[in-house]
Amino acid sequence: MRIRKAVIPAAGFGTRFLPATKSQPKEMLPVVDKPLIQYGVEEAVQSGIENIAIIISRGKSSIEDYFDKSPELEQFLKEKRKLDLLEEIKGISNLAEFCYIRQKKALGLGHAILMGEDYIGQEPFAVLLPDDIFDCHIPCTKQLVDAYYEVKASIIVLGRVDEEGTKKYGIIKPKQISERLFQIEDMIEKPGPDRAFSDLGILGRYIFNPEIFEAIKKTSPDSRGEIQITDAIRLLLETQPIYGYLFEGKRYDAGDKLGFMEAIIDLALKRAEFGQKLREYLKSLL
Ligand code: UTP
Repeated sequence: MRIRKAVIPAAGFGTRFLPATKSQPKEMLPVVDKPLIQYGVEEAVQSGIENIAIIISRGKSSIEDYFDKSPELEQFLKEKRKLDLLEEIKGISNLAEFCYIRQKKALGLGHAILMGEDYIGQEPFAVLLPDDIFDCHIPCTKQLVDAYYEVKASIIVLGRVDEEGTKKYGIIKPKQISERLFQIEDMIEKPGPDRAFSDLGILGRYIFNPEIFEAIKKTSPDSRGEIQITDAIRLLLETQPIYGYLFEGKRYDAGDKLGFMEAIIDLALKRAEFGQKLREYLKSLL
């Protein structure tokens, strides 16, 4: 079955980015000149996805406004003959068909994904975490979708992590199938270097079969009261195979202050309008 829908959970508090996220969504922080969440939306669209449900919460309505039409702004740009900008602005609201679903309480990523159950129905779907920015020759979700068509089972994106990474990410016990494809035998959330099965960490892109929803419903909340998606995947693993795909490209943890700055610098350096000037400026500092 074709992957045509995605869920983008954006209802968290963004505590790692306080105080900036006190009164504005983390997902709307600009990375160069686009909000964080637009990178995920564009990646989904470039991967063949046409329908996107964004999971939001109180205080996140600027995300809805952003992907909506802005008739006054469009009229203003037209009158001022700023036609390039006008096309860019119009393009944002035409990127995909959007649906917004409220998560009333931040009960964890697993719970946020469960909010998309009715919207998804009985088909496989993608999940993109907006605070992970992937800069890849082939969009990361497209790499995952192509691998899904091969294995026809839930599949999650993997990256190599260092010792620090074993404290931050879910780590899998892999059975290697081909250069980049692994069958997942087990996984632990944030095991630390001593308990980690491997250096393969779970990052923020997933393709799930719809059975994940039942698995989430059966998952008990963790000690902080949150339903973790890793625990639900582990439960699903008891009834069906799940794969991991080692993506090709670079990923930034833009939900973290340092990762966010790295993303801005790298992506800005690639921009023709100011990349060279920024490079010279950075050199002058170092
Ligand atoms: P994160 O843990 O990275 O985001 O969750 P967070 O909770 O907003 O930020 P920190 O960790 O406190 O700094 C990954 C994604 O899942 C969403 C977040 O909005 C983020 O995009 N999420 C998380 C939800 O939608 N609901 C939740 O209950 C938790």
